[in-house]
Amino acid sequence: MAFFSLRLQIARCGRQDDLDVFRRRYIDLYLVHIPIAAKYVDPTKRYPPGWSIDGESAKVITEPVSIQETCQAMGELVDAGIVKNIGVSNFQGVCRIADHRPSPLRPHPSLSPRNRTPSLLQQSLFDLCNEEKIAVTAYSSLGPSSFVELGMDKSIPPLIEDPKIVTIANKAPAQILLRWATQRGVAVIQKSNNHDWIVQNLDCCSFDLSEEEVKTISAYDRGLRFVNPAEICDPPVYIFE
Ligand SMILES: NC(=O)c1ccc[n+]([C@@H]2O[C@H](COP(=O)([O-])OP(=O)(O)OC[C@H]3O[C@@H](n4cnc5c(N)ncnc54)[C@H](OP(=O)(O)O)[C@@H]3O)[C@@H](O)[C@H]2O)c1
Repeated sequence: MAFFSLRLQIARCGRQDDLDVFRRRYIDLYLVHIPIAAKYVDPTKRYPPGWSIDGESAKVITEPVSIQETCQAMGELVDAGIVKNIGVSNFQGVCRIADHRPSPLRPHPSLSPRNRTPSLLQQSLFDLCNEEKIAVTAYSSLGPSSFVELGMDKSIPPLIEDPKIVTIANKAPAQILLRWATQRGVAVIQKSNNHDWIVQNLDCCSFDLSEEEVKTISAYDRGLRFVNPAEICDPPVYIFE
């Protein structure tokens, strides 16, 4: 079964539009991609809209739409049966995810995908999500791998080639990094165009890491971000400390 996930544009998005574009009856997961209300782009003109106003340059135009307003609109999509789950991405603890739930009386399943590689642990945000019963999903579990082709890898050596990682357990380095996340209660969204790697990645829960091995990998925390709108948008958009 395919799990269909979309990233929200802004609170005023066309609601039915996204379903029409993909010929779907409902969306499994609807996300705030990043806490920036970028100017709405009609999906019939350009889809996906990307970050920038023209889909090519770094120029970002924002609109005065609050996160509260956006989360409220997302809650209404759940009530209407159009969306099954809602979530946020690239939020920091300071945004107090919990404060932006649609309503304390109507808890919706929430999910918070974020850059949770060993090099960006964000332990306090993880603890906050656990406390608020918000499921956490990690992207970029393999470190800089997917940012190499975008020139955004910050010249960090690939984690899957790190001498310490490759000697942990008798498993492929990618499996070790994925297991490090899943063993700590974090879901992972992995992507690959290589059939063997997809099979390998899916088999990342057939073994356990020792407590010592988990600690060794956690020690890679560098507070390192690959996606930071302050570095890639024009004008810079400051959302992270
Ligand atoms: N919310 C956000 O801000 C955000 C940001 C980034 C990504 N994402 C999403 O997260 C999902 C995953 O993207 P990601 O950035 O996290 O990428 P990723 O899965 O961490 O890395 C993908 C890269 O790793 C390679 N790879 C995959 N499995 C491997 C294996 N077993 N051994 C060696 N190399 C392997 C892939 O190579 P091949 O392609 O050659 O197979 C590709 O170059 C995507 O849907 C993406 O849209 C979301």
